[in-house]
Parts: sequence; structure tokens; C-alpha cells
Amino acid sequence: MPVDRLGTRSWRRALLALGLLLACGSGAAQPALLVGTAWYPEQWPQARWPQDLELMQAAHLDVVRVGEFAWSTMEPREGVYDFSWLDRAIAEAARRHIYVVIGTPTAAPPAWLTSKYPDTLRVDEDGQRAEHGNRQQFSFSSPRYRELARQIATRLAERYGRNPDVIGWQIDNEIGPPSFDAQTRRQFHDWLRRKYGSIANLNRHWTTAYWSQTYDGFDQVPMHSKDENPGLLLDFRRFVSDTWTSYIANQSTAIRAHADPRQFITTNTMHWGNQFDQQVLSRELDMAAWDEYVPDGHFVWLDQAVQHDLVRGYKNKDFWLMETQPAFVNWWSVNRALPPYAMRELAWQAVGHGADAVLYWQWRSALNGQEQYHGTLLGPDGTPVPAYGVVREIAAEMARAAPALAGTSPRSEVAMLQSYDSRWAIDAQRQQADFGVVKEFDAFYAPLEHYAQSVDVISTDTPLTGYRLVIAPALNVLSEAEAKRLADYVRAGGHLVLGPRSGMKDAYDALWPQRQPGPLTSLLGGRVEQFYALDATVPLTGVLGSGQASIWAEALSAHDPQTQVLLRYGKSNGWLDGKAAIISRQVGSGSITYIGAWLDPALMQNVLDDFLRKAHVTPLVPGVSDNVEVCERFGARKRVWILINHGDDPHTIRLPSPAAPVLSGNPAVSTAAVALAAHSIQVLEAPLR
Ligand code: GLA
Ligand code: GLA
Repeated sequence: MPVDRLGTRSWRRALLALGLLLACGSGAAQPALLVGTAWYPEQWPQARWPQDLELMQAAHLDVVRVGEFAWSTMEPREGVYDFSWLDRAIAEAARRHIYVVIGTPTAAPPAWLTSKYPDTLRVDEDGQRAEHGNRQQFSFSSPRYRELARQIATRLAERYGRNPDVIGWQIDNEIGPPSFDAQTRRQFHDWLRRKYGSIANLNRHWTTAYWSQTYDGFDQVPMHSKDENPGLLLDFRRFVSDTWTSYIANQSTAIRAHADPRQFITTNTMHWGNQFDQQVLSRELDMAAWDEYVPDGHFVWLDQAVQHDLVRGYKNKDFWLMETQPAFVNWWSVNRALPPYAMRELAWQAVGHGADAVLYWQWRSALNGQEQYHGTLLGPDGTPVPAYGVVREIAAEMARAAPALAGTSPRSEVAMLQSYDSRWAIDAQRQQADFGVVKEFDAFYAPLEHYAQSVDVISTDTPLTGYRLVIAPALNVLSEAEAKRLADYVRAGGHLVLGPRSGMKDAYDALWPQRQPGPLTSLLGGRVEQFYALDATVPLTGVLGSGQASIWAEALSAHDPQTQVLLRYGKSNGWLDGKAAIISRQVGSGSITYIGAWLDPALMQNVLDDFLRKAHVTPLVPGVSDNVEVCERFGARKRVWILINHGDDPHTIRLPSPAAPVLSGNPAVSTAAVALAAHSIQVLEAPLR
């Protein structure tokens, strides 16, 4: 969500801004791009806070996130609240022009709560009940926990919902693990009852005659996350998604009742996390946010770029990077530090893909607690560590670029469909251990991003109008309704490419009797005859080039005279020899294509380049090296290019039109030739013609 601009501030802040304007000649409207940090004032004496905030100010930070683990400080005893410290922390921050995002503290319930109400504790799949001393020890479905969470969220919202210095809310923190307690199980049964109406209906869709699974009543249905009937497994994940969604809604409703609409509500999600459907959950939020970590310290730009696009797709708009690492983390095997230049590339890439804020986790390490080794901006002595200097530089650049980026967002002509149902279904039965759904998604994303330089990652129910090309890698679960939307898109002139394993199963995770791609078989004019897991490569050749398949190969057939075979397998295991690997059918001015094999990267690039050209997708900035990332954000009357050289060699980039440099150089002199030193960044602004 674009951040609030001038005009939404209170008279107090307006006066402050005026004061600053008079004092130093600059206004203090909330910048369009914010840099900040997670700050835990409750861990430090109040006398220290001014110094912390001044150090933040000196580093050009404009926002802190506070409170998300501070329940025991906010409510030291049941019903006894102390917000005086938070009042002061917010006021002290505001005095230094630092905005505040409040995290509701429900990821870390206090000890009085878990000892008085042990029924709120989470139970893991082996039946073990969580104990105090870690975080996330609560059950997401517990009505009592929700009531306690609602109360603390309400108290916070009553107190800070109209505070001009509080710009938003983060609900909980990195939610995810479900609970397997008795209450959750009852709720699962109720959820199934609502969905299926009768047990006979459930039995039919899950094919429970298999292994005598036939149920006489909903209360007989077990609750598992693995080694079960696929229909049950998929429904369990959906139930978990719905339960986390109502968990978030419980707090967002409480906050909205008291909060100024200018305050956003979000939660911080985890990269490719698949414990629940983040697309469904995001409906309860105003804005998506995520926590980006590169735990091994090796920044691979494409691996990170796709995740920003994924998060942007949760709400199909700009988002926040709520946490990222100052140099290193503490939870990997080797917690290598990102090089300073990579920290800068990471931050600018986030902005290039639609982030409107970048926050570092965390400000200063707590003297004790589980994360003593994690990267910070200050050391335990309260003075800067080396990462502070790098963040200061990044924040200064972002402050300079913020006016140019105001009101801009990325946009794309290419969409990739991301389906949790399909991920869950394949993960439950991989058939080839190396068939990672995310890995396969990345294999499609890389060539698309290289060519088009902008890709949207969207859910299967996002409208497809306006996209020239839609790619669905491994859309394993394909409901009747989804198939219809895709068919409509193709018939309206869209170009659709399905990847391997697509259209195998219906919405209940049952096999489609017409084989793959299920309800799209007749539109494709062909189908999958048989799938094969590979442990060696298989040659491929045809009009789209030649190369190799690995991991997975499907033998395809074309039954419609208009369906063309674009690639065939060479000699291999006897089953695949000479069989079709890619088939495609023109439908009016649109087309549908099925790629049945996991292609090597060069061949994948060839194949997708062909579809990109056919769909008339054009690169934002043609002719750049693979190490140069091109991002573009569009406003009503302007475009902003963010060019990032991730490589060790310098490059000169030719822009399609002259643009004014925003970070360095003379902004009055527009240029179309941009020199990019190794590991450097350029931001350029041009009017949109
Ligand atoms: C065993 C079982 C069968 C079936 C096969 C699958 O032989 O008896 O029911 O599960 O394995 O390989
Ligand atoms: C997550 C959490 C933070 C912190 C960081 C450390 O993102 O949200 O509280 O634990 O990890 O990397």
C-alpha cells in the first residue's frame, strides 16, 4: 500500500514539520519510501532511549517497529496494563521524526497467561504440548487465546489508533505452526461438515473405499499433516489457512474498530512459507509484508526477486519489507555475512519490486535471549557495528530517491500462477524427490524475468485480463472453475503455458479421469499419456531448439490436427523415445501450450523466449547483461528505473528514453546511457510519454 502522504498528519506533526521547515528548510511529510528497524525499548532502560533514537536519526531511519514480543511488559499481570513506557517510546521517536509501527504481542504470551490457561498452549503433531520459554507457544484455534489476544489488541488500538505517529499495525509475528489439540480437531470436523454437508459426500470426493477409509461420521476423521489420504491432506491445509485467517481477523477487527483508516494493518510473512495460504490470509490485511533473510549470506538475485513478486501478488500492490538482516543471521549452519554491497543490492531490489519500506532486524542485540549472535546495527555496548554504516548509506540514498518513487509501483505483462493447493499436493507425493515445486517455479521465473524484467506472481483467482502471457508451472490441482478461467483467457486471445504435472487433480486432490491437463485437455487438443520420474537426462529436440530434460518427463500426445508438437524426446528409457514433450494449440489469436518436461536452463530460456515474443512481450530495457537487474516503477506521469548491477563487471545500459539520475550525477541532465560500476545501483526518473 502506498504510504500516506501530506495531509493525513495531525496538527501536532504539521507544526513539527513547519518547525523543521523553518529550522532547516525541509518539510517532514512521511516519505514515500521508509527505512527503519525493529526496536525493543522494553529491553533497555528508558534513559537510554533518546540516544538510540538519535543514532537512528543519524542513520536517516524513519520508522521503528515496536512491541511485537512485549506482552509481559504491556500486561504484567492479567488485566493490569502498563502502556506508559510505550507512550513514552512513541513520543520520543516522534520527537526525532521517526514513525512507529506497533506489533501486537501475541506471538509471545506472558507466563501468567500460559500457566493460568494451559489450554491455550499449542500441541504438536506428536501430541506434545508446548511450554513457556520460547515463542509461538499458543494454539491458533483456542477460543480463550483469541479472546485474550482480542483484549490486548483492543487496548493497544484504543490507545494508539488515533496517534498520528503510529502509521500502522503488524498483527502477531511470522504466524505458521498449527496446533493438533482436541479443540482444533473439533473445529476441523466442523469445517469439514460445513464444506461437505454429508459424510457420504466427503467419502465420495476422498474415494474412501480405498483401504476401508469410509467414515460413518465427521468425528471419525483423523487430523494429520502427512501420510494420509490426499483429499484429507489438502483439506487440512485449507482448514489451517482459514484458521490462521480468522486468527488474524480476530485482531484486525479489534484494531479497525478504533484505528484511523490511515493506519495500515499487515502481518509479516515468511518467504516461500507454505504452512498456510498467504494469498487467502492477505484478504484480511491492508498491505502485505514479508521478512527477507539470506541465511547463507550468498545473495542470488533471481531467488530473491521472485519472492518479492510473490509477496506483491498477495494484494497485487506495493508491500513492505518488514525485516531483513544487518549482514548476518544466527539460525543457519554457517551464518555468513552478506557483503556490504549485497546488503545494498538487496534493499534496492526490494524497492524495485514494489517495497515501500525496508526495515532491519534488529537495532541492538538483547543482552540475553535466544538470538545473541544475530546481526544488528548496534553492539551490546550501544555503539554502531559495521552494518550501521552500510544501513546509513542505504537510508540516505532512499531518502534522496523517495520523492521520485512517490506514487509509483511495478507493473507487468507476464503473470505466473502460484497455487498453494498444487504445492501441497506435489509436496505430499513428490514421486521424484528432487521435484521441488519452488525450484521448478524458479526454473520458469528466471528466463521470464531475464527477458521481460517484470513478472507478476498471482493466485489462480486473480483476473488475467491485461496479461499478454500467463505461465502456470506445475498447476497440479486444477479445479473446474480455475480451468474455466484459464480457458476463457485463452479464448479471449491470451497465451497460456502450463508446466509439467499440471491439471492432474481436481479441487479434492482426486485424479481427473481424463488425464492431464484435466478439464483443459480438449482445449489443448492433446494430453499426457504417461509421466516418468527421471534419474538421468533425456535429450530433447524440435523447432524450439534442443537440450535436455531431467527430474521429470511426460510423454504427450496430440489428438487435434491443429495441435503442434514443438519438442520431442530423443532416445532414452524406451517409454519416452520419440514422444512429444511440448505441444501447443492456437486458439483464435490466443494459444495454449503444455510443457511436459523439466527443461535445462538454456532450453527453458529458448522455449520461453519464443512464447514471450509470440505474446508480444517486450523487455523494459533491451540488451542488458544477465547480471544486471532492471526494475521499473510506474506513476501517473512518470517512470522510475532502478538498475542494479549484481555482477563483478561494469556495464553501460542504454535506456529507451533519457532519464534524470536520482542518486548520483546531475539530476538536471537527463541521459540515456547509464554507466553501472560493478555491484552498483542507479535510480533514474523520466516522464511517461
Ligand atoms: C504393497 C501393498 C500394496 C501396494 C503396493 C505398492 O505391495 O501390499 O497394497 O501398496 O505395495 O507398491
Ligand atoms: C524472524 C523473526 C524475528 C527474528 C528474526 C531473526 O524474522 O520475525 O523476530 O527472530 O527472524 O532472523
